[in-house]
Amino acid sequence: MDITSIGIVGAGQMGNGIAHVCALAGYDVTLTDVNSDALEEAVKIIGTNLDRQVSREKIAQNDRDAAMQRIRTTSALIDLGPSDLIIEAATEREDVKHAIFAELLPALKPETILTSNTSSISITRLASRTDRPEKFMGFHFMNPVPVMQLVELIRGIATDEPTYDACRSVVDRLEKTAATAEDFPAFIVNRILMPMINEAVYTLYEGVGTVTSIDTSLKLGANHPMGPLELADFIGLDTCLAIMNVLHDGLADTKYRPCPLLTKYVEAGWLGRKTQRGFYDYR
Ligand code: CAA
Repeated sequence: MDITSIGIVGAGQMGNGIAHVCALAGYDVTLTDVNSDALEEAVKIIGTNLDRQVSREKIAQNDRDAAMQRIRTTSALIDLGPSDLIIEAATEREDVKHAIFAELLPALKPETILTSNTSSISITRLASRTDRPEKFMGFHFMNPVPVMQLVELIRGIATDEPTYDACRSVVDRLEKTAATAEDFPAFIVNRILMPMINEAVYTLYEGVGTVTSIDTSLKLGANHPMGPLELADFIGLDTCLAIMNVLHDGLADTKYRPCPLLTKYVEAGWLGRKTQRGFYDYR
């Protein structure tokens, strides 16, 4: 199937980044969110991030302007009806995702491919509640989307080859690199990354190091662009905890037990950069 139009659900950090890269690659993008302020904010952020790429001579001014023109926003989910591909990037809650697909399905063409940008929820389970499990995949971008090269493509148990091939060609057109994962808890990136972050929190909790010494160790000792605690703040501590819980529940192994300090920070509402406070204070 030739994909020319992409409908994106959710205008948060991931959704606006996905809209940015899809529009820049020439797709007609419809971005939706229940919150119209979030849509307005998303368009501003996309404009600023595109401007940054223009000023660093990564893209030309007319590419920037053309990309902005390809993005349409709407707060009505059913306006995504004509899209060839849906990328759901809403809140990381399974009930919310099921509800979105349920509302969207009657408006869609039978051939439309459904994908979710979930970082850890079972693709097979999300797909099983739709009318087209064979046309359903995980399409997992990394944050910040315009910068990070990887897209994880996750096959549900029923995903068919034409669907996989169509998604893979979208990744190629975005000039990103696909890594294919089977549908097991947290897939590949988060299966490996989150236990490392959780271990960094244990290292802090047990007093082995301070926030600074832990982050400096991994930045300078292992050449990571960000230390694990800085990265946790960047991702969101609530997201990190949710992914650890998916690993712990799904794989039933105590090695995935979330650190009590991570849980405590989330209970305090210290979620990282988005709340201005996490392992670092951004106020
Ligand atoms: N949009 C567009 N461009 C952006 C951007 C954005 N939102 N944020 C940064 N950039 C660009 C900058 O313009 C700059 O471009 P040039 O190289 O052309 O100059 C480049 O990215 C580097 O940015 P900065 O110089 O401002 O800052 P930096 O060197 O500190 O890099 C970073 C910032 C790219 C975020 C880097 O620190 C990094 O790679 N961090 C790790 C990020 C990471 O691991 N992400 C994955 C998280 S896990 C995940 O997403 C999966 C999940 O499910 C939780």
